[in-house]
Amino acid sequence: MSEPRVRVPDLREKKRRGEKIVVLTAYDATMARLLDRAGVDVLLVGDSVGMVMLGYEHTLAVTLDDMLHHTRAVARGAERALVVADMPFMTYQVSVEDAVRNAGRLLQAGAAAVKVEGGPAITGAVRRLVEVGIPVMGHLGLQPQSLHQVGGYKRQAVQREDIEALVEDTHALERAGVFAIVLESVGHDAARQVTAAIGVPTIGIGAGPDCDGQVLVSHDMLGLFDGHIPSFVKQYAHLNEIVVSAVRAYVEDVKTARYARPAVDVTGTPTA
Ligand code: KIV
Repeated sequence: MSEPRVRVPDLREKKRRGEKIVVLTAYDATMARLLDRAGVDVLLVGDSVGMVMLGYEHTLAVTLDDMLHHTRAVARGAERALVVADMPFMTYQVSVEDAVRNAGRLLQAGAAAVKVEGGPAITGAVRRLVEVGIPVMGHLGLQPQSLHQVGGYKRQAVQREDIEALVEDTHALERAGVFAIVLESVGHDAARQVTAAIGVPTIGIGAGPDCDGQVLVSHDMLGLFDGHIPSFVKQYAHLNEIVVSAVRAYVEDVKTARYARPAVDVTGTPTA
């Protein structure tokens, strides 16, 4: 019998019980099935899809149509995991109406919740989304959609006053109704303080071990992505090498006319 689906309220319950929350990004149905089978709680259709799958330089180029396409695929593959979809740049910042309309489309595509980057500037949108029944995950610390304003992918909340500001922002998001908050590339002390200060779970990425859960880009931790891998990523496999060597063997077989696999019928009897 399959395990019950992870639901939004389960994450808060996990924090209460001191159970860590496991999150990975997913962008297609095949990978979603594998990650789900391995016991991942939350599949995040991250806007990192831009770099990982679509060859963009950063997340700013990702469109709502890109996200809808990949969210549908992940939702088809996920059986147990909660599917959360990133709202791409400019789909929630311009107006609350836009935010509701665009988040609604992501839920229609199969996500159970959306994720948005930012603090007090977006709490109006968060509040309205939650009011109309759309669960929202926050994202603080390094916010890749603000790349140009910050001047690069820099570590956040290391100085005392920045830690205080981060704690205030997390309180603002919690009051607005988020069910969890991603903390990206923040100092470990900051992550520990925030995690202790709020009731909703924190999900860290490059934020040390004390968050309520961890998220990684699946292609980074599996060694499939051959672009820049942040130093905090523990790689559990180097699948790119396995893929290249398997494909080289196939190339060799085809070129030397050695590729052969006898066709068989349903009983296993050769048909040619
Ligand atoms: O887009 C993404 O993959 C993310 C994670 C890095 C948290 O937002």
